[in-house]
Amino acid sequence: MKFLFLLACATAVLHTHYSGHAAQLRRVWMQDHCHHGICTGVEIGRNDYVILSQMPIAKQLMLTFLNSSIAKIPHLMFDTFPDLQVLRMENCSVEVFEKPQFEGASNLMSLFLGHNKLRDIPKNIFLGADNLHTLHLNHNQLRTLHNSSFHALKELQELSLADNQFEQLPLGAFTPLRKLIDLNLGGNRLSAFPRGIFDRNLNLTRLNLARNRFVVFESELLKLQPHLKQLDLSSNELHDLTLNFAVVESVLANNCDMRKLTIYGYVYELELRNNSLRELPHIPHAGNVTSLDVAHNPLGTLQGNPLRRFTGLQRLNLSATGMNEIQEDVFKKQTHLKLLDISANSLYNLKFPIFSNLKSLQYFYFQENNWNCDFLQLLMNSFVKKRDISFMEDTTEPELVDEYVDGVVCWYESNKNTKKCSGEGLSEAALELAIVRNDIKSFMEVVEKKFVKVYRMLDELKMRL
Ligand SMILES: *[C@@H]1O[C@H](CO)[C@@H](O)[C@H](O)[C@H]1NC(C)=O
Ligand SMILES: *[C@@H]1O[C@H](CO)[C@@H](O)[C@H](O)[C@H]1NC(C)=O
Ligand SMILES: *[C@@H]1O[C@H](CO)[C@@H](O)[C@H](O)[C@H]1NC(C)=O
Ligand SMILES: *[C@@H]1O[C@H](CO)[C@@H](O)[C@H](O)[C@H]1NC(C)=O
Ligand SMILES: *[C@@H]1O[C@H](CO)[C@@H](O)[C@H](O)[C@H]1NC(C)=O
Ligand SMILES: *[C@@H]1O[C@H](CO)[C@@H](O)[C@H](O)[C@H]1NC(C)=O
Ligand SMILES: *[C@@H]1O[C@H](CO)[C@@H](O)[C@H](O)[C@H]1NC(C)=O
Repeated sequence: MKFLFLLACATAVLHTHYSGHAAQLRRVWMQDHCHHGICTGVEIGRNDYVILSQMPIAKQLMLTFLNSSIAKIPHLMFDTFPDLQVLRMENCSVEVFEKPQFEGASNLMSLFLGHNKLRDIPKNIFLGADNLHTLHLNHNQLRTLHNSSFHALKELQELSLADNQFEQLPLGAFTPLRKLIDLNLGGNRLSAFPRGIFDRNLNLTRLNLARNRFVVFESELLKLQPHLKQLDLSSNELHDLTLNFAVVESVLANNCDMRKLTIYGYVYELELRNNSLRELPHIPHAGNVTSLDVAHNPLGTLQGNPLRRFTGLQRLNLSATGMNEIQEDVFKKQTHLKLLDISANSLYNLKFPIFSNLKSLQYFYFQENNWNCDFLQLLMNSFVKKRDISFMEDTTEPELVDEYVDGVVCWYESNKNTKKCSGEGLSEAALELAIVRNDIKSFMEVVEKKFVKVYRMLDELKMRL
């Protein structure tokens, strides 16, 4: 009795040698740790040779390990769970792969090994996992790949190597991955690729290269991919970027200190926040762009009607672009525009003809400007509320503000420089101002009524036409 108990629970030392260390034979009964596919508190050392169960556990499709420390995936994992399709072993301190690691893993479809301590992906390690679709190796300590690291992964569609320490990748690294669709290399130290690295990945449609060290990006690398869905180049240092694709649905290049961007071919969505653009990107097929986000760029007042060729725009973000006025014909061609964000600029008022072609507008964000209260009131009544357009309120402290119109901050002073500097000496001057304000208010109420009337007349005229 005592003997049996010992056999089942105690740790025995195997008399074989494993990687130079004595391998420990241990029994870690999965039945004790796992309930409904969630396993907790599993401890497996680097030198342990672990038996997981007395007999195979069939029909277990999914396993997730939590709060566990597992230096390596146990040898017998896929013998013990022959039907396993999804294995989640994230944040489990996995350090190494051991050969043969994936023998018998032909049912495995998804393997999540993010947030571990892996340093290497040995050659041919995935032999046996030949139906793997999704592989996440993000947040490890990987520095290099071999050109046969991913050998045998002929069904792989999604691969994440994000947040590792790759500086370069060998030419053949992705060659076996003929069905690869989604590749995430974000958060590494890459600055260049060998020419032809993606030439066998003809179905590659999403490529994330954000948070790397690219100074240039050669679209030649993706010349064989006929239709890219997303290219993310954010947080690199791409001062002057030219992209040349047949079609790329969406390009993200936020935080790149970009001064100039040219895109040949068709592009539909562009996110270019926080760059140094003083002019809009040059895109011969600008008419096919539906979404353009250039927030946080020093574009200024958009002189020379630069949006005239962006005729298909549905979303436009001009937040924090240093505008202090908007020319009245700037949005003349934006008849499809549904969303316009001009928040966080220095706008004081606008000319109403600006809105005459914005027939599809549903969302108009204009908070955080220097609005004149009388103008703002007019804007709200004659346009925003009248057309039932959604807007956003300000969150500025009330002490810094003259007034709110429907939650949006405004000032009465015509001198913009006094903005946010008031608060002291609210004495006679303030009193005087209040009187003037009241005068203007009653004056504007009259004007406003007239304005509303004119708008109504215009609408009626339009109806008749
Ligand atoms: C994680 O494991 C430790 C010790 O192994 C235990 O004290 C803790 O309660 C566990 N937490 C969870 C959420 O399982
Ligand atoms: C990893 O697990 C530890 C506890 O085991 C926890 O403190 C930590 O937040 C987890 N990290 C991530 C990225 O999940
Ligand atoms: C594999 O990599 C080596 C260098 O590490 C290189 O010489 C060789 O040509 C590569 N093989 C393939 C098939 O890409
Ligand atoms: C690419 O995807 C299409 C559609 O899913 C598929 O028919 C084709 O075989 C794939 N090409 C390769 C090289 O896997
Ligand atoms: C803006 O981009 C620069 C790099 O060009 C970066 O250092 C900075 O953190 C970014 N700012 C924000 C708010 O993301
Ligand atoms: C580009 O836009 C034009 C005009 O709207 C349209 O006819 C054409 O099909 C579009 N091309 C692509 C590739 O989206
Ligand atoms: C426009 O960009 C600003 C700044 O990045 C952001 O806060 C805002 O949410 C964006 N607007 C929309 C409608 O996405």
